[in-house]
Amino acid sequence: MAVMNESATLALNARAKRLAAESKTIYNLTAGELADDTPPYIQAAVAKTLEKNKYTPVAGLPELRQAIADHVNDYYGSRIGTNSSILDENGPIAAANVVVTAGAKPALYAALLSLVNPGDEVIVPVPAWVSYLDLIKLAGGKPVAVPLTAEYDLDVAAIKAAITPKTKAIIINSPHNPTGAVFSKQAVAKLAAVLKGSDIYVIADDIYTQLVFEDDFTPVPKAGFERLVIINGFSKSQALTGWRIGYLIADKSVAGAATALLSHITGNAPLPSQYAGLEAMKRHDQPPQATLDALLKRRELVSKGLKATGIKFHLPAGAFYFFLDLRDYTTNSADWCEQLLIETGVVLVPGEAFSTPGFARLSFVTDEKTLNRALVEIKRFAVKQPGRCSQAL
Ligand SMILES: Cc1ncc(COP(=O)(O)O)c(C=O)c1O
Repeated sequence: MAVMNESATLALNARAKRLAAESKTIYNLTAGELADDTPPYIQAAVAKTLEKNKYTPVAGLPELRQAIADHVNDYYGSRIGTNSSILDENGPIAAANVVVTAGAKPALYAALLSLVNPGDEVIVPVPAWVSYLDLIKLAGGKPVAVPLTAEYDLDVAAIKAAITPKTKAIIINSPHNPTGAVFSKQAVAKLAAVLKGSDIYVIADDIYTQLVFEDDFTPVPKAGFERLVIINGFSKSQALTGWRIGYLIADKSVAGAATALLSHITGNAPLPSQYAGLEAMKRHDQPPQATLDALLKRRELVSKGLKATGIKFHLPAGAFYFFLDLRDYTTNSADWCEQLLIETGVVLVPGEAFSTPGFARLSFVTDEKTLNRALVEIKRFAVKQPGRCSQAL
């Protein structure tokens, strides 16, 4: 298909694994998933359901949809938007608003296909997670990239300027992949004010909301958007990337259209994975504390190590990525990352994958020994780069 590119992050991760299998010393910092195994509580709960094997309703097990609705009402509270199109008569979010999907990716795609008509525009702040632009194009829409501010916050004035009569939706992902930033409450509130009274949907990709390291975080849906779709799942919070389980929350027309679409392509999400989601919801989708503690420690370690390299970065407030500013070294970060891999075995995802050349994403999910060694290699490589030696040493 001419419009579509393979996910650059998945392709690089696969390449790094291939090189490691050939006994090359590889420090793979591309992973978009936790290194943890499936949490024991999920293994135990799902083991009890293995005799079950039948189709479920396309939108998911009724008890899971209800558990997600309960969780979401509790998590976002009444401020989800008294005028939100999701709510009937200002009631709480109901099971009927929830569609369970085989990962957050199909939730996003189904939402976009339900909302976007050919030629409609969808605004995406950049840098942006690899799949947004391709998913929008696949849905027949036109992605409109709007840069974040230098501090990685929403640039609401620029978003406002990018709105046209064709704008159908804006995708907001906070905590943000690839920068690890969380968008400020003020910027998100400003955006809600700009969109007030319009038909433009905010698609809040909340997949990293359970992985936040700072107190000052307000989930996007709390700003009170009138037209809202929430995307979420268990891939990041419960280390269930391979299980393929996510969900969308939307008004009944979008949820109905998404369900009709999914009925023809995936049918229901995998049954054992739905039971995994149900168990996660009993725990309010809290990640294991050991996971959060380990991530916090690794964030500190990488922050310290990167300072020693001289490479510029912002400390991530959530998710598990650092976004390295390589513009003092190169504008061609794909090339820079390729040389880094060849010379040192360290694999980063170049900013080109996120529509932002001159940067690279470093995932800090991996063990401390690997991170430490990789940081030594990055420093060794960076100090050899033209134009930076004296500052980096
Ligand atoms: C921002 C963002 N949204 C959605 C997804 C997709 O999640 P899933 O694996 O559940 O499809 C990812 C995965 O990397 C992501 O980073």
